[in-house]
Amino acid sequence: MNVFDECNLRKLTAVNRFVSQPMEGNDCVDGGKPSEMTINRYKKLAQGTWGVVIVEAISVVSTSLARINGLILNEKNLDSFKKLVEEFKKINNDSILLFQISHSGMKSGDFSEKVTLCPGQPDEYKYLSTDEVEEIRQFFVNCALLAEKVGADGIDFKMCHGYFGAEMLRPMNARNDKWGGSFENRTRFLSESISEIKAKCKNKNFILGSRISMYEAIRGGCGTNGPNELIEDLTQQAKLIELMNVLGMDYVNISAGIPGVTSEVTRPTNGSKNLFLNHFRYAKFAKDLLTNLKSKMKVIGSAYSILKEDALDFANENIEKNYTDFVGFGRMSFADPLYPKKISDNEKINYCIACSGCSKLMIKQLNTGCIIYDDYYKNLIGNK
Ligand SMILES: Cc1cc2nc3c(=O)[nH]c(=O)nc-3n(C[C@H](O)[C@H](O)[C@H](O)COP(=O)(O)O)c2cc1C
Repeated sequence: MNVFDECNLRKLTAVNRFVSQPMEGNDCVDGGKPSEMTINRYKKLAQGTWGVVIVEAISVVSTSLARINGLILNEKNLDSFKKLVEEFKKINNDSILLFQISHSGMKSGDFSEKVTLCPGQPDEYKYLSTDEVEEIRQFFVNCALLAEKVGADGIDFKMCHGYFGAEMLRPMNARNDKWGGSFENRTRFLSESISEIKAKCKNKNFILGSRISMYEAIRGGCGTNGPNELIEDLTQQAKLIELMNVLGMDYVNISAGIPGVTSEVTRPTNGSKNLFLNHFRYAKFAKDLLTNLKSKMKVIGSAYSILKEDALDFANENIEKNYTDFVGFGRMSFADPLYPKKISDNEKINYCIACSGCSKLMIKQLNTGCIIYDDYYKNLIGNK
């Protein structure tokens, strides 16, 4: 078994185990519509013959943006999203195309609404009432149904990286209503949403997955076992993955950390390279658990970009040993969107050098891409 072997996701077949992880390009136009630039990025990924391509964080509502030019999926923007899917599928009808649906919560920019679920946060964050959380839940459900309508193969329900979904799951979420406190309450948002999406989707093959941060590395964060705990304890994450399995979800996309807070945990850089080992361990933890449950749910691993030329060998080893089903590449998909195809064709690959240039562009709220191999982004960072 290796990374070029097929793998089933629900009723669809991924032609290989390469996943292009969601990567915000911050280049939409006219209130969250994919621009020509956005669509061209995905056309390149289509040419790259990735088994699965996950479209970057798409806001379920216009007031929850982390990026000033972030994508928003609503009725008004349907045609542009339809075009993105059509153009992608015209080039490559074999890659599975998923939409990551998201609410930025506390990570929303100053130009958006900065909201929080947890009591006791600084005044800049508006505390959400019970009904307001329910309203956001409805936005997630509607957004998933719109993703189905425009032809996406499924959704990645964003519960990672400190965004709204992650804040909801944290042991520190001490709300005293139905959205906080107990494990059952903190996972209610996910379970009710997934059950409703499943019931309302016409396409019974529509793929439902979620990206989670196994350990956020903050006190009371995901991957700890109490509101005042800092040390990693995966007990509740195991329960979460078991719950996803019961809900009939198709995959869990394993990540870690909170960009901007514990950034290196999410995306190791040259000085913190060995943190990739945590990602491998978390994926294996999820895979072992699902294997024991005899579950069909698949595991996607993250943070392979830092391994550069060695990534392929590690990916093959992890798949061969049944430590993961899929291998996910974030920055590498910016550096070389044709990566899997180039391996097959034995062509020269532009490896990500982990310079953090793409992150810098994103933090500056500029169009985001690779500053090493793409002159447009190189000039953009050069001018700022
Ligand atoms: C510029 C940039 C944009 C990102 N956008 C998203 C996103 O939209 N959704 C998400 O879940 N992760 C996002 N990430 C995280 C990546 O998907 C990935 O988890 C991270 O870069 C580590 O993987 P890598 O080492 O392969 O790059 C982003 C990361 C970067 C650097």
